[in-house]
Amino acid sequence: MSTSEVDRDWWRGAVIYQIYPRSFQDSNGDGVGDLRGMLTRLPHIARLGADAIWISPFFKSPMKDYGYDVADFTDVDPIFGTIEDFDAVVAESHRLGLKVMIDLVISHTSDEHPWFKESRSSRNKETNPRSDWYVWSDPKPDGTPPNNWLSIFGGSAWEWDSRREQYYLHNFLVSQPDLNFHNPDVQDALLTATRFWLDRGVDGFRLDTINFYFHSKGLESNPPLAPEDRNDSAAPSVNPYNYQDHIFDKNQPENLAFLARFRALLDEYPAAAAVGEVGDAQRSMELVTQYTAGTTGVHMCYLFDFLSGEKLTSARVRSIIEGFEAVGRDSWCCWALSNHDTTRVASRWASDEPDPAAHAKLVAAMLMSSRGSYCIYQGEELGLPEVDLAFEDLQDPYGIRFWPEFKGRDGCRTPVAWDSNLANAGFSEAKPWLPVPAEHVGLSVNTQEGEGNSMMEHYRRMLKFRATHPVLVKGSVEFVDTEGSLVAFKRSYGGETVLCLFNLGVEDVSFPLGELAPIELKGHGYVGVTEQGKIKLGPYQAWFGQLA
Ligand code: BGC
Ligand code: MG
Repeated sequence: MSTSEVDRDWWRGAVIYQIYPRSFQDSNGDGVGDLRGMLTRLPHIARLGADAIWISPFFKSPMKDYGYDVADFTDVDPIFGTIEDFDAVVAESHRLGLKVMIDLVISHTSDEHPWFKESRSSRNKETNPRSDWYVWSDPKPDGTPPNNWLSIFGGSAWEWDSRREQYYLHNFLVSQPDLNFHNPDVQDALLTATRFWLDRGVDGFRLDTINFYFHSKGLESNPPLAPEDRNDSAAPSVNPYNYQDHIFDKNQPENLAFLARFRALLDEYPAAAAVGEVGDAQRSMELVTQYTAGTTGVHMCYLFDFLSGEKLTSARVRSIIEGFEAVGRDSWCCWALSNHDTTRVASRWASDEPDPAAHAKLVAAMLMSSRGSYCIYQGEELGLPEVDLAFEDLQDPYGIRFWPEFKGRDGCRTPVAWDSNLANAGFSEAKPWLPVPAEHVGLSVNTQEGEGNSMMEHYRRMLKFRATHPVLVKGSVEFVDTEGSLVAFKRSYGGETVLCLFNLGVEDVSFPLGELAPIELKGHGYVGVTEQGKIKLGPYQAWFGQLA
């Protein structure tokens, strides 16, 4: 394809399948997924109907945060394979029609990154050119940290370093020192690493913790947040991180200038796109608007609203989507129901819902029909439930720290179940790094193949339905007033309007048509009944109709 034929807008409304490489497919019998294994499973993703993959970090790393602690931005960790294996994944993805997005974790590095080793070696700027590459500060006169900033993973965000006799900032683990984005050399080095991957043919990036890049140079303490203003969308409720209003440790205005540099780099390539992960409990909508408006920021932002455990009422769905529309008409967001950091969607609302699988199917159908791009996390398409691990099985330092009230993220990171006839459901011949639980084996891909009622066939059907109706991919959205558990919105694009109805509840509901005369659309697998001026929807049912 020549440059002029490339669809620069491919990301708008794209369905992005997230691969967490450790748990996707092992090929060398070490119990850890790898790139060669991934290569063999790409057809599953293409068959599902995704447009792109997002690969969680596979870079060289001591794996303290399972790859989100990078020790070399331009090399593959040997546990995952080689750079040639990565090239093979890109080539095969492209052959299958899948774009490739990789995870850039540039807000911090591993403490084993050579940059940090140099930075901590001396505070003397004359002799140590990287002295200022991380965020260093003298202690207060009483020896305590410079301010009240907290690490998401527990405790102070400052760690004492005896070489420099200074504190360094870490928003996550002690072993994830925060890069100093105020230093242009740091920005240049990160852009060089980004270019490395663009030159290897990747189509885009997921930018980890995009709103953490800059801290306030003044190192002011964050103000406390009133208890009634706290929410757990960025950190679990037992985490005191929620007690602060994070106005100084992240979310700084200087980020826009860096994002403009990042975007200019991407725009040198035919169709590279980026999605930024915005983790903030108070001002995510505002940040998304700033970061994605116009063409000088990232293309879209990833929001946490549908990842929280708060019960999904019709009013809540409307307020999330309309809340975004109100601030972000000019912006584009990326929704997700699950990822490697949150309770699996099949279990998240299970205590509230009598039929969690039917509920999960409906919620997915609803988001696949909403305005935005949509990320599917591996295993979501199989309806895998969250795994309840014993403390001894935990790997995630976040869970180990906040146990037992928050068990961490291992319960959603167990391996994908591929084949119920094979050891470890086909993931690995060896003992997997996290167990494949018995309840997942019966949900393996082979058991769902061709079963019309299965979660996997539902995902395939819905994605096909979406792909055959561009209005669902690119259209605007407008909500219609409803009562009870019914969600109703219209999507419009290129002169076409589709009415989309979803019953989130277990009681029958009706949608009065009034003046509307929709023509029912089929192909999604839901059954609705049109009768005497209204559409009746049973428990967890959806209905789609074309309006004149
Ligand atoms: C990633 C997490 C990671 C953290 C620190 C995130 O938001 O998704 O898995 O632990 O950033 O890099
Ligand atoms: Mg392996």
